[in-house]
Amino acid sequence: MDQTEKPSFFITTPIYYVNAAPHLGTAYCTMLCDVQARYRRAAGYDVKFLTGMDEHGQKVAEAAEAHGMTPQEWCDSQAPLFTGLWDELEIANDDFIRTTEPRQQRAVQRLWERMRESGYLYKGSYDGWYCVPEETYFTENQVRKSDEEHECVGQHLCPDCGRPLERVQEESYFFKLSAFQDRLLALYDEHPEFVQPDFRMNEVRSFVEGGLQDLSVSRTSFDWGIKVPFDDKHVTYVWFDALLNYATAVGFADETDEGKAEYAKRWPAQFHVVGKDIIRFHCVIWPAMLMAIGEELPEHVFAHGFLTVRNSETGKAEKMSKSRGNAIAPADVVERLGVEGYRYYFMTDVTHGEDSAISFERMDQVYNADLANSWGNLVSRALNMSAKYFDGCVPELDGGVLDAESPLREIAQGIEGRYAERMDVLDYAGAKDVVMELVHAANHYVEDSAPWTVAKDPARAGELKVIISHLLESIRICAHLFAPIMPETSAEVLRRMGLEAEVECEDLAAACAWGGLKGGVAVTKGDALFPRLAQEK
Ligand code: MSP
Repeated sequence: MDQTEKPSFFITTPIYYVNAAPHLGTAYCTMLCDVQARYRRAAGYDVKFLTGMDEHGQKVAEAAEAHGMTPQEWCDSQAPLFTGLWDELEIANDDFIRTTEPRQQRAVQRLWERMRESGYLYKGSYDGWYCVPEETYFTENQVRKSDEEHECVGQHLCPDCGRPLERVQEESYFFKLSAFQDRLLALYDEHPEFVQPDFRMNEVRSFVEGGLQDLSVSRTSFDWGIKVPFDDKHVTYVWFDALLNYATAVGFADETDEGKAEYAKRWPAQFHVVGKDIIRFHCVIWPAMLMAIGEELPEHVFAHGFLTVRNSETGKAEKMSKSRGNAIAPADVVERLGVEGYRYYFMTDVTHGEDSAISFERMDQVYNADLANSWGNLVSRALNMSAKYFDGCVPELDGGVLDAESPLREIAQGIEGRYAERMDVLDYAGAKDVVMELVHAANHYVEDSAPWTVAKDPARAGELKVIISHLLESIRICAHLFAPIMPETSAEVLRRMGLEAEVECEDLAAACAWGGLKGGVAVTKGDALFPRLAQEK
């Protein structure tokens, strides 16, 4: 299909703070988007998948100083940690934005100009509390006072993360967020699909119903940020800067013809995928900013839960984070399961809207049960039998072999539609169940039809052909459906079946229609795709 005819699909991750090396939690969010981006490419969309780094703010300036670097040097030193990990985890992003880039500088300055013109900006003075690690402002009655049991007695603590707050008293520009209460509530009423999964909507709505405070959007007490173009004592509040990255990357404030065309085509984004901790920024502040300057709103904000790990002392599940010291390095999981096993576990065994406790035991179980024993085993059995009984080839598909009735053919009917329904709402566990139904049925079919017995009787040659070709056809379809989650393995399966040309799929529904198998081509048996893990691992 011509690229220009394809519908655009623009999906984003949050941009990550540079202060913590990426861990399983950050990789999880990026992978959620990668799977969606791959699925949409295969389904015929012209996809832009954006991720990047959030590089401004006091916290970055402080970290740079602690490392004896300038803030820019510090950010530059961190970028390869992210891009390197994304490469290793088969993340196929189309763009990687850094908020220190000139395109972001230009876009943020344009935002200031447009905000000023809009009348929703005023200069005042800020007197309140600021959480540096969370980059969030709080009013006096929002803060938690530390109590006797807490180690920082007498301090004001962040209501979100519990860490001590800084008192901030300074001149600041304010964004009139309070003026958007009614328009935001109308947005939630008219577009209930704006916030996903739907149970998160209640939280967003009640926050807005509780009344909105104007937002302080500039700081004067440090200078690592984008200067306010008409008042260079002020730098932009990090979230005001960071949220705009999504628009910057598709040409906001790019006056070239190319930039304008890109913006017209890509904006608004279809999906912002974010963690539940930053839902207010994305479902309240960001749409209000866009309303203020008259830009369209993103279609969906999908909030995922946290990956948690059990604290061995308290027995409680805790959010995995670098600062808590409980973060598992992605390399440890890759070493154990391989990249595709890693992707399969995190994408299909974690319920994406909820918090999920992860464990190495569970990883091994899922890997062995689903990948080694079911999917991997099916592929190797079917390819081996095809090679053995059909002279190293896929059977010839003459005489309507694939038209014969079989339980597999029945399950495969409409499978792409059932799968797409789940994938469209990022329910990858549900999509996996659809595919695994066919995988399990195929393994049962092998047992029930016992091709090794059928092969002994020359009079049953036609039957043998049906069995093997229906197995291979099911595998071909499953390989397509698993490809967004395990791209390399799926490509390998298709190659082993002589279907190299199908690897770059742009019409998933057509690819998954029963009947695409090529008869008479050589099959490659190859090594086990997912070698079983030893018990004690
Ligand atoms: N820089 C801001 C986002 C700005 S977007 C305009 C930020 N960065 S972050 O690095 O702290 O977090 C980025 C994302 O990682 C968030 O969506 C957060 O929810 C996610 N995660 C961090 N730890 C996580 C887990 N343990 N589990 C799942 N996701 C986690 O916030």
